[in-house]
Amino acid sequence: MAKSITQFVCAECGFTSPKWLGRCPTCGKFNTLAEEIVKSAETAGGERKPRAKKSKPLSEITFENRNRTSSGISEFDNVLGGGIVAGSLVLLGGDPGIGKSTLLTQIAAHLSETGKVLYFSAEESCSQVKMRAQRLHLNSGNMLIVNETCIDELEPELDGVEFCVIDSIQAVYTEDLSSAAGSVGQVRECAAKLMRIAKSRGITFFIVGHVTKEGALAGPKVLEHIMDTVLYFEGENQENFRILRAVKNRFGNVSEVGVFEMTGEGIVAVTDYSGVFLSESRGEEPGSAVTPAQTGARCMNVEIQTLVAKTSFGQPRRMPLGIDYNKLNLLIAVLEKRCGLGLNAYDVYVNAMGGMKLNEPACDLAICAALSSAYFGKPIDKYTAVFGEVGLTGEVRAVSYCEKRVAECVKMGFKKVLLPAKNMKSVVKYADKISIVPVLYVNTMIKNLFKTEN
Ligand SMILES: Nc1ncnc2c1ncn2[C@@H]1O[C@H](COP(=O)(O)OP(=O)(O)OP(=O)(O)O)[C@@H](O)[C@H]1O
Ligand SMILES: [Mg+2]
Repeated sequence: MAKSITQFVCAECGFTSPKWLGRCPTCGKFNTLAEEIVKSAETAGGERKPRAKKSKPLSEITFENRNRTSSGISEFDNVLGGGIVAGSLVLLGGDPGIGKSTLLTQIAAHLSETGKVLYFSAEESCSQVKMRAQRLHLNSGNMLIVNETCIDELEPELDGVEFCVIDSIQAVYTEDLSSAAGSVGQVRECAAKLMRIAKSRGITFFIVGHVTKEGALAGPKVLEHIMDTVLYFEGENQENFRILRAVKNRFGNVSEVGVFEMTGEGIVAVTDYSGVFLSESRGEEPGSAVTPAQTGARCMNVEIQTLVAKTSFGQPRRMPLGIDYNKLNLLIAVLEKRCGLGLNAYDVYVNAMGGMKLNEPACDLAICAALSSAYFGKPIDKYTAVFGEVGLTGEVRAVSYCEKRVAECVKMGFKKVLLPAKNMKSVVKYADKISIVPVLYVNTMIKNLFKTEN
């Protein structure tokens, strides 16, 4: 094999050094030098070969129109955008012990019923993988397992393989670089090798990626750029529910989420997710409001819980979970200025139930409703839902998917829904099934729900 020449390049200023240095002598930053392959010894001194022209018109390009393959888990297919695309690279990130290997073992076992699947386990021995498969009652007779950490050993194993699981990218290394497995250079080089194999041989790779303490994928950002799909597997460790979310998808919608439950028999897709994002006690205590949130192609009712407590410090605290910090500050300012709520003397805590992330503007009005409920100490009825975007002037703006949101509320047995007045036209047909309250200003919502004169 041709020996590669490597050098160390500073990620900040581009300084190069033949050996690793802890601190870059040019920009003075610590730990920024990463190993890179420069060129192989074969081509280093020799003449460059003339290159053949490869470009061709788009109309002349043909491809095998294969349908997407199902992973056997409907929620996983949904998040991928309707199934697995051949020759794609799927990165699955998540906290330790969240169930990444379990999910991919289940998928690999399903796929091995129809095609050849290789499980490249760098973290666990073959017997440990077998033990898990047995616990999950998987009939995975055709699944090939290899316990190896060197990615260069992968190529000969891939004959006839359609799907390959790499567990995990941080545990594998290439002999071309001398740095340790998991280092920036190694992760980048191994990912680039996998991409070359995936695109040239049409093999689909599922790659497990570890996350840092802050929750981002460990390794270089380029890892996410190389991938076709980047998925995050999240959930509270003590709770059994898990959420799978796409943060990048070249073949589907990124706002799609999948809901799973971790059981003794493995990971099971949750289709009736009504109980996951709503609490049993809602409607009894002040501070909670329900909003039909649109995630990808689906609409789910999600509860927002808030707590306002008199601040004991000079500056009140704002603690959002699952909601953007700046968005919360903005809504508090609107409630203070436009509706006269004295929230500046209170610490505010907001939480979207079930680990849900509510990024769409349509959830604004429900956050305001929950905050007002906590402020007035008056609970909102259990079967009332609220949605709408809130503007800085305190007006409630129209939102998309209005009809779907109302339909979801009707399906879930809700009795009343407060929505933007400008959306009213599209939902009049539901008027006999649910009480619809059009809202023009945040104030109107507060008056309707809490009967105050604010
Ligand atoms: N016998 C069991 N019954 C129920 N749940 C189990 C059992 N054994 C393991 N688990 C669950 O499986 C989880 C571990 O799953 P898995 O090994 O797939 O996680 P992982 O994300 O791959 O972890 P790592 O990052 O360490 O590789 C545990 O946290 C536990 O919740
Ligand atoms: Mg694992």
